[in-house]
Amino acid sequence: MKRWFMLLLALVVLVAPILAQDAPPIKIGVAVAQTSNVALLGQEQVIGAQIAGDYFNERGGINGRPIELVFQDTAGDEAGAINAFQTLISEGVVGILGPTLSQQAFSADPIAEQAGVPIIAPSNTARGVPQIGWFISRISAPVAVVAPNAVQAALELDPNIKDVAVFFAQNDAFASSETQTFQSTVTDAGLNLATVQTFQTTDTDFSSQVTNALALNPQLAIISGLAADGGNLVRQLREFGYTGLIIGGNGLNTANIFPVCQALCDGIIIAQAYSYEADSEINQTFRTIYKEAQGKEPPQFSAQAFAGIQVFVEALTELDNTVGLASFDETSDPLGQLRHHLNAQILYGSYDTPLGAVSFLPTGEIVQEQFYVAQIKMNEDGQTGSFIFIR
Ligand code: ALA
Repeated sequence: MKRWFMLLLALVVLVAPILAQDAPPIKIGVAVAQTSNVALLGQEQVIGAQIAGDYFNERGGINGRPIELVFQDTAGDEAGAINAFQTLISEGVVGILGPTLSQQAFSADPIAEQAGVPIIAPSNTARGVPQIGWFISRISAPVAVVAPNAVQAALELDPNIKDVAVFFAQNDAFASSETQTFQSTVTDAGLNLATVQTFQTTDTDFSSQVTNALALNPQLAIISGLAADGGNLVRQLREFGYTGLIIGGNGLNTANIFPVCQALCDGIIIAQAYSYEADSEINQTFRTIYKEAQGKEPPQFSAQAFAGIQVFVEALTELDNTVGLASFDETSDPLGQLRHHLNAQILYGSYDTPLGAVSFLPTGEIVQEQFYVAQIKMNEDGQTGSFIFIR
């Protein structure tokens, strides 16, 4: 009797993965900016997601059933994100990693919420994104917990800072949210908020804002914008003779600003929700794969995208282990039921990611323990550089 049972068990163990491999791949949508100025951030997300897709498929996907990442370009605006979400939802993805900007999330996420499709935001850091709905979670820690670390680091580098000039892109939801955090951190630290200058993410000429600010002799400049505008603003601050410290917000957190501000990017302080130095096994595996492919250390946006795909894969695997993904086929709405239970599982689980141990509040807000601060060090060629961790 026992021998028969063991034989049967062996058969199930052997055959189940083969059967699973015959099942069609499970589609996960990736809707980020592959074109437009926002692609300076989105390109890094594509790379992180692709690494995750290959990595988890090599390890057997979802209990032997492969995943398929379906990429859809959102470009840089709301309409692009809405289109990408609608296309992916009708293609039958179980969930979507995206979009790149909070500004896009506030328009596109309600569509996913309405359709009952789990969203993991890979880089939306504005206040209020997870609160858009039950199906909306984020793997990107919010400005409120990340940004203040940069101000602390600046004060450690220069304890004589007294007067601060703040710049932010007023047409962008994330930049408007991040600047609130920066401004209150500055005043809470007893510093003088000397001026608040506004611009648009589409601006290229910042001479009036820079002139206004430098007239007040600030010792610290803080910029909340996106990569192209932010990089140009840094460049013009230096060209106009500013020599104090500069903090860049999350929208400047990419080596893709190097071609914009070149040698003048040197010294920008940027708070980080990721460090390639973190010594967990999963992070060092991710770091090795990334470095082999890209020839440099992995950035935060790639690590967050990897972690977002990892959450989908591990939540799907857990769901398969507990109720069995095939069981949804017996319901009247297989995809709708799968999406619903997947979202519940995402919120319930905890994950050992390159970002460290991660879980979610019932609202979908990320719970993450470790944060860092890096400073950009440009090489003598003025073209290449790196992020050096200082905190
Ligand atoms: N962190 C930026 C945003 O939320 C990219 O829009």
